[in-house]
Amino acid sequence: MRLVVTGTDTDVGKTVFAAALAAATGARYWKPIQAGLDGGGDAGTAAALGVPPERILPEAYRLAHPLSPHRAAELEGVAIDPDRLVPPPGPAPLVVEGAGGALVPVTRDLLYADLFARWGLPAVVVARTALGTINHSLLTLEALRSRGVPVPGVAFIGEANEDSEATICSLGGVRRLGRLPRLDPLTPGTLRAAFLANFRLEDFA
Ligand SMILES: Nc1ncnc2c1ncn2[C@@H]1O[C@H](COP(=O)(O)OP(=O)(O)OP(=O)(O)O)[C@@H](O)[C@H]1O
Ligand SMILES: [Mg+2]
Repeated sequence: MRLVVTGTDTDVGKTVFAAALAAATGARYWKPIQAGLDGGGDAGTAAALGVPPERILPEAYRLAHPLSPHRAAELEGVAIDPDRLVPPPGPAPLVVEGAGGALVPVTRDLLYADLFARWGLPAVVVARTALGTINHSLLTLEALRSRGVPVPGVAFIGEANEDSEATICSLGGVRRLGRLPRLDPLTPGTLRAAFLANFRLEDFA
């Protein structure tokens, strides 16, 4: 398993889902560009959610500003070289987390979705179940498909919304992988249990 976790927006739950997937499958976790370092970044969150530290790969770029990577890099005088953004090789499974959504700029002339296409990796879409998700999800699926990025399915986050989930999957022609409810508390244990109860590991093989 080598795949990307993207989403319909920032803050939808990509890190939580990616950490659950990596923890449950024994995959390595890689966030190629971390923009915003308060709170340890997404790699720190993945570790706190149960991904063993030795399976968390170092970022290629760590930027302090909590902004789109292209802008954070400009403000910090960093030139992002896409050739350094190559998914780590090796037979062990790998989960790569983008930043924000699929059309977030990595540089002024490269979007995350272009990078996913260049890598030739499939991208799971993490989507909210709340109002607005049909539009955001279908736009994301179109953007990925128009670049030739395969989409194994959509992982929903939030309270059940049967019609929205089914509508996205039928209009988007995509598999519903499952739904993580809002967890309170959110701990490695509650996350692992919820992931295993709501997703099938073979869907990610
Ligand atoms: N299933 C869940 N249960 C409880 N809290 C959650 C869940 N999913 C996400 N959250 C919370 O929502 C917030 C955003 O989640 P997360 O950091 O995973 O988003 P993201 O899509 O990775 O954001 P970014 O674009 O910054 O990488 C976090 O505070 C996280 O703890
Ligand atoms: Mg994240």
